[in-house]
Amino acid sequence: MGILFDDTNRTFTLNTESSTYQMQVSGIGHILHLYYGASTRGCMDYLVTSADRGFSGNPYDKQDERSYSLDQFPQEYPFWGSGDFRSEALMVRDDRGAWGCDLRYAGYEIENGKYRLEGLPAAHAGEEEAQTLRLMLKDESLGLEVTLLYGVLEKADIITRSVLVRNTGSRRLYLEKVLSASMDFAWGDYDSLIFYGRHAMERTMQRSRVGHGALEIGSRRGMSSHQYNPLLILADHEATEDAGRCWAMQFVYSGGFAGCVEKDQYDQTRMQMGLSPEQFSYPLDPGEMFTAPEVIMSFSAEGLTRLSQNLHAGIRRHILRGPHVGKHRPVLINSWEAAYFDFDADKICALAKEACDLGVSMVVMDDGWFGDRNDDCRALGDWTVNEEKLGCSLGELIRRINDMGMKFGIWIEPEMISENSRLFAEHPDWALAVPGRAPQIARKQMVLDFSRKEVADGIFDQICAVLDQGKVDYVKWDYNRSIMDVWSMDTKDQGRVLYDYMLGVYRFLERLLERYPDLLIEGCSGGGGRFDAGMLYYTPQIWCSDNTDAIDRLWIQYGTSFGYPPDVMGAHVSVSPNEQNGRITPLQTRAAAAMGGTFGYELDPAKLTEEEKEEIRKEIRDYERFAPLVQTGLYYRLTNPMTDLVGAWEIVSEDGSDVLLTAVTVNVHGNMPDSYVRLKGLTKGCFYRNEDTLQCYPADALMDSGMPLPSRKGEYQAYQIHLRRMEG
Ligand code: GLA
Repeated sequence: MGILFDDTNRTFTLNTESSTYQMQVSGIGHILHLYYGASTRGCMDYLVTSADRGFSGNPYDKQDERSYSLDQFPQEYPFWGSGDFRSEALMVRDDRGAWGCDLRYAGYEIENGKYRLEGLPAAHAGEEEAQTLRLMLKDESLGLEVTLLYGVLEKADIITRSVLVRNTGSRRLYLEKVLSASMDFAWGDYDSLIFYGRHAMERTMQRSRVGHGALEIGSRRGMSSHQYNPLLILADHEATEDAGRCWAMQFVYSGGFAGCVEKDQYDQTRMQMGLSPEQFSYPLDPGEMFTAPEVIMSFSAEGLTRLSQNLHAGIRRHILRGPHVGKHRPVLINSWEAAYFDFDADKICALAKEACDLGVSMVVMDDGWFGDRNDDCRALGDWTVNEEKLGCSLGELIRRINDMGMKFGIWIEPEMISENSRLFAEHPDWALAVPGRAPQIARKQMVLDFSRKEVADGIFDQICAVLDQGKVDYVKWDYNRSIMDVWSMDTKDQGRVLYDYMLGVYRFLERLLERYPDLLIEGCSGGGGRFDAGMLYYTPQIWCSDNTDAIDRLWIQYGTSFGYPPDVMGAHVSVSPNEQNGRITPLQTRAAAAMGGTFGYELDPAKLTEEEKEEIRKEIRDYERFAPLVQTGLYYRLTNPMTDLVGAWEIVSEDGSDVLLTAVTVNVHGNMPDSYVRLKGLTKGCFYRNEDTLQCYPADALMDSGMPLPSRKGEYQAYQIHLRRMEG
């Protein structure tokens, strides 16, 4: 049974296959967090200790019991106003301006299946795969009802959380902070893992020891951001890839967020994730309800690899949707680095023809096909095909591409508007800007006010008119700036605009998928600036980074792999020297790195030598062979490319029979010792055969003493070793 309520001690226990989560209703109705760890039976309330502590307040109804204080108890959903001075999950203000509330237990419901969230992406699951717990809390005097939602995905070892806040009173309330998940650890020595970065260098992993004070990550940019990913991991200080306890919180949301790890005065640790409280003040009139986005949580007692595999399976089975999930994605060629804005239909067709000859199956026409978009200073919002530039209609171009046996994809950036555009001339008020104040401009563009239905609908109609001109198989959905000026003309409550904006984007994406159910959408935001589980609900792959350098990609894809499986990471081969950082790498290495994600090319094949073309044909044949592993296999990080001499990872089919080991040397010296990598996840007692050299190896030895990489001279050498289990 996934969810149990024990009436005798008022505990709620949530069980997944390998974890147990427990909370308890205290005598006066506070929800105390007891446990999240390895599967266990019993009641863990013995873990909560109490003492009469100086300066710790007591609830009015416990003033004679001075050891009862929320200043020290581990809590399930801490709210401001309770005497807990750590980072709160909920901050409410009433229309008199008074802060705080007093939430007490008011009942529960358990049902089969997984709850859904109105207008927001959330993990989906069949009736038999999940259970839902609704835990109701109330502040009678304020007229506030808070429902804590828990989705228990037993097999996936995942617990999801969300929160509904209802105004059941008679006065207007303002939600100043609503996080989706908060969890307290009564004691322990932990490390936090965060994924920081910048444009062209996203999701660099940082592991640091949790000390006193708060570590805060987040985004105030209206997007999940290049700077911090909405993924937070807490691990035992001694935890490794293969051993030790670790916990993850992954936000299913693409706008601003806040994550926090705080160690308090009594050495307790609090971990939190939810909406950014910055520029957030959500009004709730009597009868209204607010829905907080979902957080996916997972626990592993077997180290970080297992935790990542839980999150990968969660994304693959419970977040991604549509006909492309788990399926081979077309190897594509994208026009951006091949032509930038300088192309016409003939050039796109020439690109397609050359690429087709190499084995590529889809061509993507990137930025520059609409309005007078010949540079990045204009025309966003004018989604009409520039037939004069192309030299033909879009329909004709697509037909020419399809006649070669190739699929066709196109780039769009629906949420943006250029000041220099027809749309801006007609609807200047559609851009987010504060009246009377000059807006911030980035890449010469502004952000459309998608919190307004009329704005999103206007763009939707334009985009559909384009997509209806031919068979469009793929769309690259870009988003190339942060939101800086928050002001919508449709509301007096500007504190709701950023949240409503995201709902508008999600509504748009949902409508697009309803109308074009076979469309494959790849998310993008100046590379990987909006790489999150929220977008993945609509776009089963996301361009990982504008940085296509194979060696930087080792870092980026390594960091990304902590929360996201390889099949969602957009990765392409581009030219060398690399256009972002000037590094020179062998073609084979660029291909090996790109095969750690959805594979494709971002270069002009006409400029390749015959030898390079032959190599690319082989790469594509190899990728066709490896694609099922990338789509569905278990991912193992074998080294840390940021600190080790070799960046190595391995993907193993779920049944253990098929293995792809990839290793890239990141350092070269004279008279080098050989590098060895130790494999993981093989079937014990079996033998594995290298599919290229036909050499056989014992699985146990590969997992114990590893395998030497063939020695080769030169910088940045890549090795792809395909092993199959020998049966019988
Ligand atoms: C962003 C994307 C690029 C490309 C350009 C086009 O930077 O990340 O891949 O599509 O926009 O303007």
